[in-house]
Amino acid sequence: MEKTFLMVKPDGVQRNLIGEIVGRFEKKGFQLVGAKLMQIPTELAEEHYGEHKERPFFGELVDFITSGPVFAMVWEGENVISTARLMMGATNPKDSAPGTVRGDFAVTVGKNIIHGSDSAESAEREIGLFFKEEELVSYTKSSNDWIN
Ligand code: PPS
Repeated sequence: MEKTFLMVKPDGVQRNLIGEIVGRFEKKGFQLVGAKLMQIPTELAEEHYGEHKERPFFGELVDFITSGPVFAMVWEGENVISTARLMMGATNPKDSAPGTVRGDFAVTVGKNIIHGSDSAESAEREIGLFFKEEELVSYTKSSNDWIN
């Protein structure tokens, strides 16, 4: 089953949005298979955002993501990578539709509440960066028969 990496960023944690965000993905029908509240070390932040190293906002991005705890998660489900991106909304909250996480709770691109893997390759890479194999839990819910 497809998996993706999602993370409530420091602004989302500070604003008490963990429950709201987890609830949206649970109600959609996806399954939480790993989660932890953590403070990201600078080296991990630089590796996670490595593809953006040359961009002018790289320093700001690393400073922000290490500025406080994040809630890192792995979610599982059919088409979860692309559907989670839709549910998150556009990167810049000025373009995010109402009903999406960023459309409902964010205003500026620097503080956009949530991160989600943008492809199968980044999902695999990011899950591997943040979680050990034994931290992910596979389990069956009978309700899956009704929603999928
Ligand atoms: S995306 O979603 O990867 O296509 O977005 P992208 O525009 O490439 O942005 C990459 C990450 O950088 C964040 N970002 C910024 N941070 C601070 N300032 C500015 N101006 C800015 N522009 C983009 C953006 O939120 C992406 O981080 P994540 O964690 O992936 O959302």
